[in-house]
Amino acid sequence: MSAASILPPIAQAFQLAAGFAMTQSVSALVQLGIPEYLKDDTRTIGEIAVHCGAHPETLFRFLRFLSKAGVVELESENCRLSPAGQFFRKDLPGNLTKGLELMTYEPWQESWNNVIHSLRTGQAAFQHAMGQEPWEYFREHPEYGKPFNEWMTHLSRMSAHTLVGNYDFSGVRTVCDVGGGHGFLLKTILERYPQARGILFDLPFVVAEADIVMHDDRCEIVGGSFFENVPRADLLILKSILHDWNDEKAVEILRACAAALEPGGKILAMEMVITDSGSPIGFFYDLHMQVMLGGRERTQEEFARLFAGAGLKLTRIIPTRGPQSILEAVKA
Ligand SMILES: C[S@@+](CC[C@H](N)C(=O)[O-])C[C@H]1O[C@@H](n2cnc3c(N)ncnc32)[C@H](O)[C@@H]1O
Repeated sequence: MSAASILPPIAQAFQLAAGFAMTQSVSALVQLGIPEYLKDDTRTIGEIAVHCGAHPETLFRFLRFLSKAGVVELESENCRLSPAGQFFRKDLPGNLTKGLELMTYEPWQESWNNVIHSLRTGQAAFQHAMGQEPWEYFREHPEYGKPFNEWMTHLSRMSAHTLVGNYDFSGVRTVCDVGGGHGFLLKTILERYPQARGILFDLPFVVAEADIVMHDDRCEIVGGSFFENVPRADLLILKSILHDWNDEKAVEILRACAAALEPGGKILAMEMVITDSGSPIGFFYDLHMQVMLGGRERTQEEFARLFAGAGLKLTRIIPTRGPQSILEAVKA
């Protein structure tokens, strides 16, 4: 039984209404560097306050609040990170601090403040709140665009080896990562498959910063839009792209990809495939994509329909031990 389900309903309702305070409190904990100071150790409130420059009595009350949510474990004056709290340590690979930081930034907060706009219109709240769609906004506001692209690379670092390990790229001559960000996934493929050549394709201002694959002479870097022209290749990868867009736009992207496929070529989409009994993270991302971009997460049937709408056939779905699956499609 979860902690929430043993609370009286009014307390559960209160906790739901105060959810914003949790994001901000965890963010403050991270900004003070408390998770890296605690590591695997137990420290007193006094030690943490001195080391991180916090007001001791207020710090105690913050940590007490966070202990109720399972971020830290507190016994009298002694505090340690919980297993979940370990994911807020910047010194550990796979930590979630960059994603948390983004959620506290103005464009993200303002978009969620306007979530009702999405609910009423079915459109993105970001554009309504910020006056521009995110990609245009990121180009003009590198203070937000840069950390966003870094978070994407961080997520790719966490998942690329698993994704690449679950697919056989050995017959592939040219692989193009469409909307490939700064190129970490492509680099992982090229390192493992020396016969393959790569093309990193993304918006010009994004690939301009793509130092990850820049120095590989088997890799070409191309700036452009996947609504206009996708470079030709025998394998096109779309990782975390389709979920950014509504069905109409996603089909447009898939059509442009289908037109760029060499004969016998394949498209690989790497996405979460949601099911009713699946992880709540999938349902959070489903809403987050709606709010930020008017996009969505999809079920297996929804993906099959999407591919069919672009003249493609979904041939198989390969689950991985990470949250994303590999969806392979060919021309129908
Ligand atoms: C959610 S990120 C995924 C990045 C990368 N595939 C990954 O998984 O780390 C979406 C990417 O789509 C790119 N993008 C957005 N609009 C685009 C367009 N019209 N043409 C090409 N790329 C675009 C963004 O710049 C961004 O890098």
